[in-house]
Amino acid sequence: MFVGEVKQSYAKTNLDVAKTSLLKMLNEAEAKRVNNDDNQFISKCDYHLAEDFSRPWVQAVLPGLKPELLDLANSICFEGYELRAIWFQQYNQDSGHSWHTHGCNYTGVFYVDFPDETPATEYIEGKDYTRKKFDVEEHDLLIFPSTLIHRAPINKSSLTKTIISFNINLNFHPRDLKNKWDT
Ligand SMILES: [Fe+2]
Repeated sequence: MFVGEVKQSYAKTNLDVAKTSLLKMLNEAEAKRVNNDDNQFISKCDYHLAEDFSRPWVQAVLPGLKPELLDLANSICFEGYELRAIWFQQYNQDSGHSWHTHGCNYTGVFYVDFPDETPATEYIEGKDYTRKKFDVEEHDLLIFPSTLIHRAPINKSSLTKTIISFNINLNFHPRDLKNKWDT
């Protein structure tokens, strides 16, 4: 997985926070509208607090998220991961997030509230800049390399899309790799 090509990992997560209670926490969270390139805006976002893991909604999702991330790391030969930043974004009508990349080495998106009428995350692949769309559904956990150019297309519907995003570093400490290959 993940070697030299775009991959996505769907995990039907047990994030242990029901959608309604998580949305309630997000609605009560400190957040603000964020303008980005191309005159686009994110309706509500707490990226400015992304490194503060004491936020109530973050404390609520971490117990369910951590095992998923550890499984992911293990599945591609890493012994662990480091969560560096986590934030939420809400997209009301006419909002979007133009093409961008992230820091760290992997990026995650958890689709908290994802009505069919709202757009899926898109990404760019290949030398001809082919535009592709992730085949994601509500409650999917999507992971991709942070260098992947992606965007949240403008939400034309009157319904709101809510996602949690995060940046992780996978740590390379395979216990027995040295013994296995250094001879
Ligand atoms: Fe992003």
